[in-house]
Amino acid sequence: MVRVPGDKSISHRALILGALARGHTTIRGLAPGEDCQSTRRCLAALGVAIRESAESDGLAWHVEGRGLGGLRPPPGPLDAGNSGTTARFLMGVLAGHPFSVTLVGDASLSRRPMRRVADPLGLMGARIETTGGCLPVTVTGGRLRAVTYQASVPSAQVKSAVLLAGLHAEGVTAVVERQPTRDHTERALAAFGADIAIDGPRVSVRGGGALTAADVTVPGDPSSAAFWAAAAAGIPGASVVIEGVGLNPSRTSFLGILERMGALVDVRPEDRLGPEPSGTVTVAHAALRAVEVDPAQVPGLIDELPALAALATHGGGLSVTGAGELRVKESDRIAALVAGLRALGADAQELADGFRITGGRRLTGGAADAVGDHRLAMAFAIAALGADGESLIRGAESVAVSYPAFFDTLEGLCA
Ligand code: S3P
Repeated sequence: MVRVPGDKSISHRALILGALARGHTTIRGLAPGEDCQSTRRCLAALGVAIRESAESDGLAWHVEGRGLGGLRPPPGPLDAGNSGTTARFLMGVLAGHPFSVTLVGDASLSRRPMRRVADPLGLMGARIETTGGCLPVTVTGGRLRAVTYQASVPSAQVKSAVLLAGLHAEGVTAVVERQPTRDHTERALAAFGADIAIDGPRVSVRGGGALTAADVTVPGDPSSAAFWAAAAAGIPGASVVIEGVGLNPSRTSFLGILERMGALVDVRPEDRLGPEPSGTVTVAHAALRAVEVDPAQVPGLIDELPALAALATHGGGLSVTGAGELRVKESDRIAALVAGLRALGADAQELADGFRITGGRRLTGGAADAVGDHRLAMAFAIAALGADGESLIRGAESVAVSYPAFFDTLEGLCA
């Protein structure tokens, strides 16, 4: 039995909406990794009082909301660290505040595209200066006009940034998606009392209304659970029970891929504690077969592809196309994933917008470089479990971004 840390995506949203609401928000199960601490520190620099308290079953975080438009100019640049969600969400929020703020990030985040967020916020009336389309970005916000924005990339971060700005705009701001992406922002906005409407691919929010503080319980992160699910599916005789994991359908497509690969998957939903469903997931090994992932499925699996790739090295195989977005994650996840798996002995090939892994070749083990990318470090660890020899993962400390206890839990599960 294993529990995974709180969902990173839901945690960012809870902190930010708590900061924009009126009243006291309590968050239980907040993701413990560095990314959410980046959001917390940025919000603190914007004048939001956030403190933690110990409870019998873990930490509770308390956010004193400042109300919409109530953030204060920070004393200096805001550092989003490694976290794209922090940078992009805060761009949306700051677009509605009448002062200038510069956002910076680490080397990886400073290479990631920000125009996808800057463009719609510019249409709404904010002034956004990027550095060649990347961080540092200076946001000068103010009065915003509502827009209807046709999303050009399937990205929940872009959708969320526009909706967060829309809270501060006059009238109804809408985002229309070509491909559905995770809907945590929509669920969280409704829970915090925003006037939000969902009509097929169109999500809209009415600006100017107040948000009300909420009590949030964050379920376990399915993207973290995916690594244990992949390990159990790949190792003959193995099984794992993962409790309290988020079961939002926009995040659980990887379970369907595991089943198509041949693994045994059982999902037991539990009583809902809030807008996000959760439950127990059990995964057990069975003979694996090769699977092709359809491009239309990619947005629902984007963060789980490294875990699925790791599983494919244990047997079966996996081919993914339509996943060019992987090249602009915490690393170029196509190039670095394929290079690392090959270094461990896998038969893996890079495609322009995806990768192909031929299963059935036993890994030798070797030295794989996670290039500072948390999900690659975890994927290489899961692949290495199937290797004959020892493996070394360079940059393994990057797991601190989303799953600080990853290697302790791995040791416990292998014992
Ligand atoms: C996230 C959305 C995804 C995902 C990231 C978290 C979110 O990014 O990869 O880890 O919390 O909205 P994109 O929206 O850029 O695809």
